[in-house]
Amino acid sequence: MELFDSHCHLDDEKFDEDREQIIQEIKEDGVTKLVSAGYSVESSKKASKLSDQYEFIYATAGVSPNDISQTKEELWKMIEEIKNIASQNKKIVAIGEIGLDYYWNQENKELQKLAFIKQIELANELSLPIVIHTRKANEDTLQILKQIQVSKKGIFHCCSLKGDLLKQAIELGFYISFAGPITFKNSKNADEMIGIVPDDRILVETDSPYLSPEPLRGTRNDSRNVKYMAQKIAEVKQIDVATVAKITYENAERIFNIM
Ligand code: NI
Repeated sequence: MELFDSHCHLDDEKFDEDREQIIQEIKEDGVTKLVSAGYSVESSKKASKLSDQYEFIYATAGVSPNDISQTKEELWKMIEEIKNIASQNKKIVAIGEIGLDYYWNQENKELQKLAFIKQIELANELSLPIVIHTRKANEDTLQILKQIQVSKKGIFHCCSLKGDLLKQAIELGFYISFAGPITFKNSKNADEMIGIVPDDRILVETDSPYLSPEPLRGTRNDSRNVKYMAQKIAEVKQIDVATVAKITYENAERIFNIM
């Protein structure tokens, strides 16, 4: 069984001491492709470098709503740097993670929206999909996606959209990626959410080193744990885990345009 971790952060400092070792173990464990997601200029550079070093690692480049600057002028510079990173490396497979986060930041909603829109335009210019981070901002996120054409579509990462909003995201053509929270015992809507997503739009991710799934909560997460998300989906959809591995792998290759 081979798995594709559609979203992790291998550049994170929590991997500084044993990164090479962990990357080796991830691959040996059957996670034969993964995407290390950038969230700032610095982390996008690091993710891009990792994708140069390891054949099975791909990367994204983008500035998350929690990493944008205070002023528009600085923001344009950041996005220019993201453009340079993304256009210089063919293994940058998406612009992201980008989006809106009103949980951590409520003071700069307009600048967050501007950063999101500008980076969607960049993705369109480079013919790349987007990876969306949204937290406590689901309505505004969907509003923007309805207003602006996203030519290569993209992924709702660590998705927590429920019911109607989740259906809207799928109708707009987006893929849905599930992380550790769907395995948590107190997750009320996980089964409902998984049930809504069609088989050809579902992805699995770890968002590691954070958000370890059950039964490993509280420990450092890494891509090997993506199997717990696949198991949860298999239970809910009542199909075997090998089938979930196969469909999520093919879906990830399709949306990231990896041959
Ligand atoms: Ni992330």
